[in-house]
Amino acid sequence: MDFTTLLLQLKNKLISLEKEGLSYLNIEKMPEAEQRLLYKGLEEIISIESSISSNKKNLPLEINSKKTHLEIFQKEHNPPKKLSNKTDCEILNEKETTLGKQQTHAEEFNQEINKNVKKNNIDSINVLYKKFESCQRCELGGIRNNFVFGNGSIESEIMFIGEGPGADEDKLGEPFVGRAGKLLTKMINTIGIDRQDVYITNIVKCRPPQNRNPTNKEISCCLPILKKQIDIVNPKLIITLGNVPSKTLIPDLPGITKVHGQILQYENWKLLPTFHPSYLLRNRASMPLAWNDFKIITEVAFESLKF
Ligand code: URA
Repeated sequence: MDFTTLLLQLKNKLISLEKEGLSYLNIEKMPEAEQRLLYKGLEEIISIESSISSNKKNLPLEINSKKTHLEIFQKEHNPPKKLSNKTDCEILNEKETTLGKQQTHAEEFNQEINKNVKKNNIDSINVLYKKFESCQRCELGGIRNNFVFGNGSIESEIMFIGEGPGADEDKLGEPFVGRAGKLLTKMINTIGIDRQDVYITNIVKCRPPQNRNPTNKEISCCLPILKKQIDIVNPKLIITLGNVPSKTLIPDLPGITKVHGQILQYENWKLLPTFHPSYLLRNRASMPLAWNDFKIITEVAFESLKF
């Protein structure tokens, strides 16, 4: 990994940690173990940087100025080495071995940060669930059997959003477990993905009576939960199933028969509207169109398609 990529990764990690409310700007407040990790990572960035001295003058100012603090840290922790009579070849060999070691440390550092981000995401999703599981913000709260929050992998690149729980989901407390859910699961499996590896939720988390569409009020009461779920999962691609979720996230959208299969932008995320599986069960002729949409999912989520 080169120096610029490493710096970029570090910067991105810090941004995502800050997004989670873990501001590392105040290093004194950082737990000691994490301070040590951060220093270890920064220390090696300096070492890698000094071995790539040719690009140094072109570094942005803020990176150069940060280096001064880090140099102080490095001096305190790495006493200067004695000069030796080694041949150029020996020095080169040593440098290569050290660089290899440093990159391993960088990877370790990244893994450690990733572990923390993952743990923070699990904590955040649990906090979100606890906060709303007894929600009574709208009348659906009074008539539900279960609050259907959503399930699947919160680390997934792919997030499906349906309309709202039906009778089966209300009974079991899980999204898409009825007939429509079985079709959705099959379609996910057909593109080579296990259902447990995607995240699935709905616009509203409580069942509207007689499976009617949720009202605007019900949607607006529930929307903050969905937005937070999207923030936490931070998928590469959101797939909205049918008109209700598509138009909730992108209000001026034409109907699903016109926009299905197009990659749209919703805030920071790519969004692919497609047919709701209940609609497909009633309109089998639209199935080939839905398959074409599903084929786009893996291309976008795993980035073989560039935009
Ligand atoms: N339809 C939806 O929109 N969501 C479910 O969870 C089930 C059926």
